[in-house]
Parts: sequence; structure tokens; C-alpha cells
Amino acid sequence: MNHTARIDSVALLDRDMARKNLSGYWRLGMEGLPAQPVTAVEPCLWKWADVYASLLRAGELINLEQSERRVVRLVNPGLNQQLAFATHTIQISFQYVKPAENARAHRHTPAALRFVVQGSGAYTTVNGQQCVMEPGDLILTPKLTWHDHSNESKEPIVWLDGLDFPLVTALHQVMQERYPERRQPIEKSSEEVMSHLGEALRNGLASGEFFHYKWRDTEKALRELAASPAARDRFDGYLLEYRHPLTNGPTMTTIQCAVQLLPPGEETETHRHTSTAIYHVFRGSGTTQIGERRFDWEQGDSFVVPLWHAHGHLNRSSSDEAILFSMSDAPMLKALGFYREEF
Ligand SMILES: [Fe+2]
Ligand SMILES: [Fe+2]
Repeated sequence: MNHTARIDSVALLDRDMARKNLSGYWRLGMEGLPAQPVTAVEPCLWKWADVYASLLRAGELINLEQSERRVVRLVNPGLNQQLAFATHTIQISFQYVKPAENARAHRHTPAALRFVVQGSGAYTTVNGQQCVMEPGDLILTPKLTWHDHSNESKEPIVWLDGLDFPLVTALHQVMQERYPERRQPIEKSSEEVMSHLGEALRNGLASGEFFHYKWRDTEKALRELAASPAARDRFDGYLLEYRHPLTNGPTMTTIQCAVQLLPPGEETETHRHTSTAIYHVFRGSGTTQIGERRFDWEQGDSFVVPLWHAHGHLNRSSSDEAILFSMSDAPMLKALGFYREEF
């Protein structure tokens, strides 16, 4: 026999396995898995002045024939910059629609929501339901609902877009379809749906039919809550979650929305949880401590509290209340059994 003896080694084994699309667990070493959840998402704050200036410039430079939407996305410095996501599960962007403009009708697997920041009278149509937008309104476009946006008012409108786009991307489920026409026909108004909600619920309303939370209703409920000291949450002040009226469950299957009121001078205790939240400052000014870092915020600013980062909020004003709008990925973590909180 005449063959060359070969002394085997781990390096040779790794190389030969790699050629066959195999990999040894030993390459991970002995460190094992982290003792606590770790995220690449960084605590981050975006100033309204920067977002708004970019929207105004985009208003001059981008038209709705070039781009499906005129949207400025908030990008987390800890994540892949190409994907331009604010967190690993939920995206936040701001959209700007000028008078006489229409953002064409489409639908997609990512679920979206709009929280109106500035401007009145434009509308979003969701599955034929016209939702006229005013500041503080929340409008849902759950996955695969047709939606288009029209501004027939005399002023530009700006709203916050929240989407579960990063999650749907991770699941490789992203798809979009265009409606055959630029706009879908309007069949009814969200006001009609809301006025018949009680009756419709008794008669088994189709689950997709409720899309619009008016600020006038939200504000009333928030103020009623804030009038009751027993309702104060030690970590969030007076927090009102938007529930889906049919299920009484989360706002959407993947995103829980909330508004919270911090009375003048309010300082909450700190806690941490395995869910990630994105905040937008609707009114007031304050400070949020996130881990070792401190973020001062004013009206219009947005910030991210990544998972498992201890956080607490402070209203810096001694005279004015602060109101935060937030989006959390807690529903999906709870559904999968990953939700955990510590204080
Ligand atoms: Fe869309
Ligand atoms: Fe929290």
C-alpha cells in the first residue's frame, strides 16, 4: 500500500465540513449563551427639528410619482443601516403629504398605524372607510388592508407611521400589491362606524372594521384616568392602552399602542422588560433615563427604549403635563412566551 498518511486536525475538519455546508458547534467555544437577553438596538433619540426639516426638504425634492410615499425613516445606529429600521421589530417613520396630493392605494403584509402629529382634514381610506385625520388621532391599517392617503385640505399634514416591518422582514413575509386604481372608492366614514360600534359589536362586527381612534375620545379617557390617583402606574404615570374594541386585546396582533400622561414634576420608578418600545412626545418636555444614558426630550421628539434596558421617565416641567405616545412589541413576545419584566 502506498498512501500518504494524513494527521487529522480540527482545522482540517472545519474546512472539510464547510465545503459540505456543515459547521461544528465547538466553533462557538465554551462561553455558551448570554445570561440575559442581548440586543443590537441602541437607545436613541431623534429631534423633531431634524425630522421636520428633512420632511420639508423632501416636500420640495420628492414627488409622489417618484416615491410610493414621502416618508422619513428613523434609523437605529446599532442596526444594519441598509435596512433603515429603528428597532428589530417595529419601525417608526414620519410622512408628509402636501395639499392636493394623494399617496396611491396599496396593501402589504406589514401592519401599519398612523398617529397624526400636525395638520387637519386630510384623510386615510382603509378598506373603503374614510378616516379624516386630526392631531392625536390613531388610525390602523392592519396587514393586507387597502389604504391610500389624500390631502384635500389647505395645509400639509404630518403623521407618524408605525409598522411591524422589521418583524415581517425577519420572517421573510414581506409583500405588497397595488390597488387597480390610484384611490379606492369611499364606502363609509369612520365616524359612521364609530357611532354604530356598540350595536355592531352586539351583532358581530367583522374584525377588520374598526380602524380609527379619535383624539377627542382618547384625551377624554386619559383625563378621566389621570383624575384618579389610584390609577397611577409607578413605572408609566397614567397609561392608557389602545385596545381593539372587538377582542379587547392588543391594538394589533404585533403592536400595542398607548398614550401616557406624566403630571408636572412626575418622576416614575425604573423597570425593564423584554419588550422594546418606541416613544413619541406628543406634548410637553422631560427626560428618560435608559440604562446609563439620559435623554432629554421635547414635543415632537422620538426615542427608543431597547429590550432589557432599565428606564424611567421624568416630566421636567413644574407647570405643564407631558403626554407620550408609544408602540411596543409586547403582544408578540407575550404570544410567544418571551415577555418578562423586572424592577
Ligand atoms: Fe402602506
Ligand atoms: Fe417600560
